[in-house]
Amino acid sequence: MRLKTLDLGGRVAVSLFAVTLLGALSTAELLILHSLGGTMSIEKVKAKYTGSLLVSSMHGSMYEYVTEDESIAIVERWIAAGATETGYGDDVAAVMEEDCTNCHSKTSTMTDAMPSMPLTSYDEVVKLAARGLPGGKLLMQLHVHAFALGTILLVLALLVCAADIAAEWKVLLPVVGFAGLWLDTAGWVLGAFGEWAAWFIVGGGGFLAAAIAAMSIVILLDCWMRVPVIGRVPG
Ligand code: HEC
Repeated sequence: MRLKTLDLGGRVAVSLFAVTLLGALSTAELLILHSLGGTMSIEKVKAKYTGSLLVSSMHGSMYEYVTEDESIAIVERWIAAGATETGYGDDVAAVMEEDCTNCHSKTSTMTDAMPSMPLTSYDEVVKLAARGLPGGKLLMQLHVHAFALGTILLVLALLVCAADIAAEWKVLLPVVGFAGLWLDTAGWVLGAFGEWAAWFIVGGGGFLAAAIAAMSIVILLDCWMRVPVIGRVPG
């Protein structure tokens, strides 16, 4: 099958798929920015994926609820000192009480409540103090990414193979996409072991996004015209 020989309906559908993916990429970008608190930097990626979620949320998406920066410093010192129950009772409980438990409690009645992640006791808070993404969240993100992005990459790869472009690109683009996906997700798992894992995430995520964007653009163009630079008439 070649994209160019599809009926008008087929080419419209492939084009809409490509445009939808480009839209989804921009949305993913915005979501990542939101979770990092508005701007992207390697420091923030390190904090989010290789530091503790508790601290990174206070620097990032939960920063607006932090009454003073000293509260973050208190939590950071507590974690650095081993996140003990005694230390929790001394300082950290008060910070949680003041800034967080309004929403983060099982009985919160706030509109923006987060009852599924209560921060009202040592046991609840210490779970978010550990390095790297907490287990449940990690598994959740891993399986969503593996299933959803694996499927999207396969569909894109098949469509790219049906495009009139040079053969080596039909291998290169999918391989870069899958390599990016694997690197990115490996980075999340390795985040618990050191800050260097942040480079896996940024590099892998970059390759993945670039491959999805490139493949979407290739199939979109190929439906309607000759793809510039890498386009070939099959012969
Ligand atoms: C006004 C309500 C509200 C307050 C106050 C609040 N949170 Fe949240 N928090 C939420 C909601 C809603 C979510 C889930 C949606 C989101 O991530 O924005 C959330 C998510 C989180 C997450 C998960 C973030 C992630 O990336 O998965 C953490 C950790 C967190 N909050 C910690 C805190 C801490 C620590 C404080 C106190 C400094 C705090 N929150 C104050 C409502 C609140």
